[in-house]
Amino acid sequence: MHEEYLEKINSALFGFLPRETLREQKLIDAMKYSLEAGGKRVRPMLVLEFCALCGGSVEAALPFACAVEMIHTYSLIHDDLPCMDDDDLRRGKPSNHKVFGEDIALLAGDALLTLAFETLSCDKAAEAAGDRACRLAANTLAGYAGCTGMAGGQAIDLMSEETNAPYEVVSELVQKKTACLIQAACELGCLAAGATEEQRRAAARYGEGIGMAFQIQDDILDCTSTDEELGKPIGSDEENQKSTFVSLLGMEKCRKMVEDYTAQAITALESFDGDTKPLAEFAGQLAKRKN
Ligand code: IPE
Ligand code: IPE
Ligand code: MG
Ligand code: MG
Ligand code: MG
Repeated sequence: MHEEYLEKINSALFGFLPRETLREQKLIDAMKYSLEAGGKRVRPMLVLEFCALCGGSVEAALPFACAVEMIHTYSLIHDDLPCMDDDDLRRGKPSNHKVFGEDIALLAGDALLTLAFETLSCDKAAEAAGDRACRLAANTLAGYAGCTGMAGGQAIDLMSEETNAPYEVVSELVQKKTACLIQAACELGCLAAGATEEQRRAAARYGEGIGMAFQIQDDILDCTSTDEELGKPIGSDEENQKSTFVSLLGMEKCRKMVEDYTAQAITALESFDGDTKPLAEFAGQLAKRKN
């Protein structure tokens, strides 16, 4: 991975936040709080890496990268609410609703979701990536984040609590709630660079592979890590009686699935002519991650 991208992503993210005003300051503070709380920035890094692999510029990729991270951050704020997973710790700090209240946390999520599409359609994005790429990026991200993607996956996740859901259902919920947004990040990197359809399809396969592996590893860590290391409460899945691959198949089979999905992702990189080493290494690091 190109470590220098991290700083660029962080400074671009704050550049897109609303200018300070008086009356809705609490809402802006809540948005900033969760964006600033850090996180690994996996998805925006993927946007930048795929854009570079396909010959595009960092400037073209940054607004797309920020948009994906805004959607991801909104999804975490809502995921922690009492009506969903009811978790009080996120990215090593009290969850958004513990600091700002459930009402403002809900709105901070809404406002980040909206800001993502404002960012994709702003002049700066159009100048750097072109109108057509921006339109395609908005359309692609909406599809992956909405009811047929992440939001739909979150609904299946909630409806599968206390049900011992079968393999197909767990597989679908993992794919939708997590792999979809990771896939979107990979595809948006290609779009920012004006990549070919074939490259975009290969990026989607890579994204799906690391996305599946990512959520299975998340479910493993929920059982094996500590609050301090993970920055969020462990044991949350068991407490909510979630249907996960860990509850369905056990830890050992899940470790193997993480390896297999990661290998599948790395194979998809063969379709690219450029230097795929950073993305191959990244997949390997994510499979071994501890937080
Ligand atoms: C957490 O995502 C939610 C899942 C999809 C598992 P991350 O593990 O990427 O969270 P941050 O952004 O690093 O906090
Ligand atoms: C959430 O899955 C995926 C999202 C779309 C936010 P989890 O509920 O397992 O994520 P964490 O463990 O709270 O980060
Ligand atoms: Mg959840
Ligand atoms: Mg959760
Ligand atoms: Mg989890």
